[in-house]
Parts: sequence; C-alpha cells; structure tokens
Amino acid sequence: MTVAVSPARLPRHFFRTFQCRRCYSTRPPVSLLGQRYAADSSTNITSAIIDKVGRNLYMNPSHPLGILQSLISSHFHNFNSMVGLNPVVTPAQNFDDLGFPPDHPGRAATDSYYINKDLLLRTHTSAHEVETFARGERKWLLSADVYRRDEIDASHYPVFHQMEGARVFSADAVGRAELEDDNARLSHHLARSNIVIEDVPHITASNPHQDVHDPVLAELVALNLKLSLNSLMLTLFGDRAGVNEGEPLRVRWIEAYFPFTTPSYEVEVFFRGKWLEILGCGVVQQQTLDRARVPDSISWAFGLGLERIAMILFSIPDIRLFWSQDPRFISQFTAGQINTFKPYSRYPACYKDVSFWLPHTGLHDNDFCDLVRDTVGDLVQDVVLIDSFTHPKTNRSSKCYRINYCSMDRSLSNDEANSVHAQVITNLKDKFGVEIR
Ligand code: DAH
Repeated sequence: MTVAVSPARLPRHFFRTFQCRRCYSTRPPVSLLGQRYAADSSTNITSAIIDKVGRNLYMNPSHPLGILQSLISSHFHNFNSMVGLNPVVTPAQNFDDLGFPPDHPGRAATDSYYINKDLLLRTHTSAHEVETFARGERKWLLSADVYRRDEIDASHYPVFHQMEGARVFSADAVGRAELEDDNARLSHHLARSNIVIEDVPHITASNPHQDVHDPVLAELVALNLKLSLNSLMLTLFGDRAGVNEGEPLRVRWIEAYFPFTTPSYEVEVFFRGKWLEILGCGVVQQQTLDRARVPDSISWAFGLGLERIAMILFSIPDIRLFWSQDPRFISQFTAGQINTFKPYSRYPACYKDVSFWLPHTGLHDNDFCDLVRDTVGDLVQDVVLIDSFTHPKTNRSSKCYRINYCSMDRSLSNDEANSVHAQVITNLKDKFGVEIR
C-alpha cells in the first residue's frame, strides 16, 4: 500500500536535502569577506584557502611583502598605486577579456579555485586590467593576493601576491614626444649605473607588434617598457649587500608569449649563480584597451610575483614563513628596510608515505595537495610523488606520495605527525574513495 504524504507534513530538513537535487545544490554556501555565494558542482575552494582571504599581508608596512610592495610603489612614485580589490572575479575578467583561449589549462578546476561556476578567486592581477584602464588610469600599479592550485614545496603556496603595472600613452605625436623624452631620461640614468643588460630585439617575426599599431610607436613603447623595468631591477637588486657585492647587476630579456600582450617578454636577474625569472610584460593587446573603451592609445603592462623577489631579497628560505605570526619572524622586519632574515632553529622533518589505489575517476596531484593542506594547514612542508604505476592485469593505478610534515615554529612529535597523517588518510578515503594499500 502506498501512503500519500502531503509535502506540508514532511520535516523541513527533507526539503533541504532532497528538493535540491533537481533545482539547487545541497552544498553549503561559501562565505568570503562577509559575502555569501551559492555553491555548485564547480565549487572547489577549501576552508584552508578561505581562511587566507582578507589577510592582506602586502598591506602590512613592516611585513617583507609590504616592505617590497612599498619599495616598488615608491620606485614608480608618480603611478597611482591601488590595493584592496575584491579577489572574487568572473572567468570573463580573469580569462576571456584577456584573450585566454577556451581550452587554456589555467581555467581548469585542477588549477584554479572556483567559488561556483560563475566566480573564481583571481589567479593573477591582470584580471583587473580592463576595469582599471576603464577608470581612465594612465600610470597605475595594482597589488593583490592571487590564488592558484599547485604542488606543495618551499617555493609554492596556493595564495601569493602580485603587482601589476601599466602605462598608457596617446597614439599620436604627443604620445610620441612623451615617449622620446622619457626614454632619453631613463637611458641616461641606466648608462651611469652598474648594470649589464642582455637584450633581445623589441620586435621580431616570432614576437610581433600588433597590426593596429604604428611600428615606430610600438618600438618606442617596448623600449620604454624595457627601460622602466631595467630601472626597477636596479632599485630592487642593484648594489644591494649580499646580492651582487660590487659586481654589475645582470638582467636578461627573453621573448615570451602571453595572450594579452604582443610583443611580450620575460625578465630574469642573475643571482647567486642562477638566472631567476622575475616578471612578465609586454605591449597590451589593443582588444584590452578597446574593451575598456580607451581610444587612440597604446600601453605597456607588467606583472610580478612579490614572494619570489622577497625570498631573494630577505633570504627567506620557505614561502610558508610569509604567513607566520611567530614573533621570531615578524619582529625581524622594519618598514622601509630590506634586511637578511636570520633563521631560528630549523625543526626536524618528519616523512610519512601514503600509497593507494586511485578511484576510477583518477586523482589529480593538486587535489591530493589541497586535501593535505586543508587537513594539516602549514604543517606540511612538501609533498613528493615517489611512485606511480598501473597494474598490468587489473589496469588499476596506484600512487605513492611522501609527505614531509614540519612546523615552521615548533618541533613536531612523531605522535603528532602520525595523528595528522592518519587524518589525511581518513579524509582521502572519505573524499576521493581511494583504497589504501
Ligand atoms: N599575469 C601574468 C602571470 O600571472 C603576468 C603578466 C605577464 C602580467 C605579462 C602582465 C603582462 O601585465 O603584460 O603570469
């Protein structure tokens, strides 16, 4: 016998759980910076990430990231320096408006943190280019936290900080005169500085100017970009104790590709025997300025990561330290000063392995890393995939990861490491249905 139950008699939670299957998700909404966002099947932001949103480390004048941010802002002292923009952006802002193709890997859920299918955490400060140009800014800097799903090691963290900068010139005789003046001034300054530059031609067949641009003007803009950034490299790295010790600063320009600039370049600096990639830049694609309704203009832009430069300048060995609230870290830095970080005792590493059969749907390395980070926070120092194979008969795949548990500010007992590792294994089984081997 079937008993008809009138919907009004059903307990309230029945609706919350079941009605949603058809019309909306059962996932709890995502709360970020005082806003609530509906979650859906694209949601992959974790609570470890949500906790970091709004920390604004780069705004603290005596934090290494804040010190570096201020140094760069004062180098570009006549640029308008913007901070505090909302990290929640649309895929259009982050990708489409900048010419990223529909199949670009950066859009994938394995690479970016989605709040829902229509919103994500910006993966780069370039996401704000259109709106900033649209406000009529002609010389601007923008500093912000950016978010990318990635591996776990001493130089990768899923939240980091970037600065974007751009300068707009009018595409006429006035702009041309301004460029010629500024290029002469900057060349004069660089000629008297202790710097050696390995350059590439501004424009080549493989790194072309845009058809809409007068080639002479495009050359002048590319030169202005290069001179402006060489001068920034001098401010950051030139004659700094412990960096070059009297040797000239070596800066290398390399042809690059970005969907939102052409010509495009990368800048590297020679430091302690190695070339280090510092930033990406180029002449802004005209579609970006068109989208921002900035007519008759031409612009250059650059974007750089603050952590990478701060790790070099302050000798900070592990990217997690930027998030430390330990007075032994914070008290070492003073607004306006670049000094060498003195490591307090290093705590012993504690390695634990986990081997498992993958679910049939597979498991991306970044999903594994996010699960570890979400379970143990900053107790994880690095994660290495040490083995992976597919069984020839059953065709099942197995992976073995080695997790290095190590706190930045205290000694971790083996019992504690065992207990967090057990929690990782439980969560791995619950969330991804893996079979531990
Ligand atoms: N947004 C790029 C990144 O995150 C960096 C970048 C490259 C910014 C070129 C720019 C640019 O403005 O012109 O890797």
